[in-house]
Amino acid sequence: MTTTQTAVRPAPVRGRTAPGPRGIPVLGNLPQWKGDTAEFLLRAQRDHGEVSRLRLGPYTVHLVSEPDAVARVLKDNSSNYTRGVLYEQFRTVMGDGLLTTDGDAWKAHRRAVQPVFLRKAVASIEPIIVRATTEMLDDWEVRARRGEPVDLVTETLRLTLVTLSRSLFGYDIRPATPVLKDVVNNVIEVMFKHGSVGEMAPSWLPTRRNRTIARDRRIFTRLVTDIRENHARTGEGPLMELIEAATDPVTGQRWTDEEIRDEMLTIYLAGHETTAVALLWTLVSLAQHPAVGERMDEELERVLAGAVPTAADVERLPWTQQVVDESLRLYPPIWIYPRDAVADDELAGFHIPAGSSVLLSPFVSHRNPRHWENPEAFDPARFDPERSKGRHRMAYFPFGAGARMCVGNFMALLELRMIVAMIHQRFKLSLVPGEFLRYGDTAISLRPRSRVLVQPVSRDRGARR
Ligand code: HEM
Repeated sequence: MTTTQTAVRPAPVRGRTAPGPRGIPVLGNLPQWKGDTAEFLLRAQRDHGEVSRLRLGPYTVHLVSEPDAVARVLKDNSSNYTRGVLYEQFRTVMGDGLLTTDGDAWKAHRRAVQPVFLRKAVASIEPIIVRATTEMLDDWEVRARRGEPVDLVTETLRLTLVTLSRSLFGYDIRPATPVLKDVVNNVIEVMFKHGSVGEMAPSWLPTRRNRTIARDRRIFTRLVTDIRENHARTGEGPLMELIEAATDPVTGQRWTDEEIRDEMLTIYLAGHETTAVALLWTLVSLAQHPAVGERMDEELERVLAGAVPTAADVERLPWTQQVVDESLRLYPPIWIYPRDAVADDELAGFHIPAGSSVLLSPFVSHRNPRHWENPEAFDPARFDPERSKGRHRMAYFPFGAGARMCVGNFMALLELRMIVAMIHQRFKLSLVPGEFLRYGDTAISLRPRSRVLVQPVSRDRGARR
């Protein structure tokens, strides 16, 4: 018998190697990345096009903003793209929740929590949004009378945290907010600020960073116990209800305490900081563009005639919706997110090697001059139906796309539209001069670098409650 040896031919390399900025030996583009990341990525798109190749230490990363290529990663060929190494940093903090897992584990959790996030179900949180916002605005009323400014960073974070906690978990988190503020800040720093590729110490080494993570997870574990006990007593919190009843589809076993904790931590973190950042930039943009604000005030008066908006009302506020959409275009809270290619792929004619990372950035895509005229301008009219015609769907993706699209997008949009409307019904906001309003550290969300002080001025015609 003769044996014929078949030569194993390497798979053909598809596409050209993408161009990219020059780096230095070993570190590659890491120093530029660690400087002003947002600026660096915008420059990469401007100078090298819609697929550019970056070297971050040992990692090859492609920044992709060509809309068909974005669609291929998130939808058409999404099974080739996993969360990957850059998401590993999130896992050290959040554990194994919806944001950090793939495959069957992710699918089972997504199915379990999805019902409370459907558009219809979300509408039922309307009274909670109204109550929490009214509490905040009553306090602003007192401060406005004294001529005291408010810090939008603190106020928006607190409001979205209180709303999320009450509406999904049935828990009044207000007493815990001073402690949680620090925990959330630490977590965000840890997950991104030190660079996913920068801090490579294994989790068992007692580095400062690892000790902080361990302490914050302990604080959160205690809080979770309290929230679950509260649910057992009161039965409140529709998401808590689903999570407590959830079972593993293979074993039929209830979720473990760790699974429950990690999912709760994920939802708390993914849900409140993002919405707070979006709310903040919307309010800041309105303060900076009085004509846009006046048109919104006119719409609110015409449609609501002074009444507090309901979930149904916001559907009748197209300009308010466009204001929020435009704010999410310029300041998408989750402004970059990574994937790893399992097998070789080709994106917009460029070769993506197996094992390399792909970086999608709504921040960069939303400022791509090929799809957005005068991209740096805050112009809600660009979302007029006429002007939106023909725009590629993946030129705009603040909530992601495909199966991994943000589970909380209806909730976030409802909150943003209602809260912005309620604030503007009662107050005119002006930025306190001298505030440093630069976005983007290399944080996970597009936060401003410092506090943002605004002076609320009461319109003296409180909305009817
Ligand atoms: C303006 C507010 C928000 C923005 C801009 C936003 C953005 C995003 C984006 C871009 C993703 C996809 C990330 C990726 O594909 O790698 C995502 C996923 C996710 N978001 Fe949001 N989000 C917001 C609000 C919320 C809220 C209110 C919740 C929950 C209460 C939430 C929970 C989640 C979860 C659990 C995931 C992971 C989903 C999965 O992989 O199945 N988000 N979000």
